[in-house]
Amino acid sequence: MSRLLSIDGISVRYGAIEALHQVSMSVEEGDIVALIGANGAGKSTLLKAIVGQVPLCEGSISFRDEVVSTSEKHRKSLPTHMLARMGIALVPEGRHVFADMTVEENLDMGAFFVRDASLVARKKEEMFDFFPILGARRKQKTRSLSGGEQQMMAIARALMSSPHMLLLDEPGLGLAPLVVQDIFQKIKLINSEDKVTVFLVEQNARMALRSSDRGYCLENGRIVLSDASSALLENDRVRQAYLGE
Ligand SMILES: Nc1ncnc2c1ncn2[C@@H]1O[C@H](COP(=O)(O)OP(=O)(O)OP(=O)(O)O)[C@@H](O)[C@H]1O
Ligand SMILES: [Mg+2]
Repeated sequence: MSRLLSIDGISVRYGAIEALHQVSMSVEEGDIVALIGANGAGKSTLLKAIVGQVPLCEGSISFRDEVVSTSEKHRKSLPTHMLARMGIALVPEGRHVFADMTVEENLDMGAFFVRDASLVARKKEEMFDFFPILGARRKQKTRSLSGGEQQMMAIARALMSSPHMLLLDEPGLGLAPLVVQDIFQKIKLINSEDKVTVFLVEQNARMALRSSDRGYCLENGRIVLSDASSALLENDRVRQAYLGE
């Protein structure tokens, strides 16, 4: 397996607050990697750093051996549409759907940089096959969808650009356990059948670790543990701090 994403010693500050401190981690092609951590640990900040939404004050981030972000000294951050072209798609925390647009229009937004109209139409049908509930609701305004349906739509929208790597910020947030299970099942299928590498951030540590190959624990902006997810599920510190055992 080859390395797809490499994060090397990055630090991120918001004014006086250091949200990430010398974080290093990597994602191998084809894997599902989970990052778990409590509220405020810096999980969303890490995803934002990958997509260039927050500047680094130390370190660098590479995707497929190309540097996509470096510290302010030699400041470089590729714009989002370049990242989309390179094959990175983010499903942000809180989903950020366009509530007044229909499901279909939202999916069209996900393919904003795809020029081939027939490819966009094909992709949309693929999404409606994969998420039948979205097909049934395609002409409906997004605000009328349930939380779980909106999350599925946010994932489908990200997949419209045929990414190599999908970044997911708390896909289970605020959803009932059965819906969360459903969504994680879909994420596993996207990985196994469409060969999309997945990096997901979750507070629901049990679900995240059960669904992933490798995991990292983030505490106060620092990576404190990393291992195979199956090993983390057995780890005493993880069990106490994240699994409530
Ligand atoms: N725009 C901002 N300005 C100032 N501080 C911020 C900003 N965004 C995040 N922070 C701070 O950075 C730290 C990490 O925040 P972040 O959103 O990355 O955490 P998180 O792990 O995603 O938390 P949650 O599980 O609640 O989503 C927190 O202390 C937060 O208050
Ligand atoms: Mg967050």
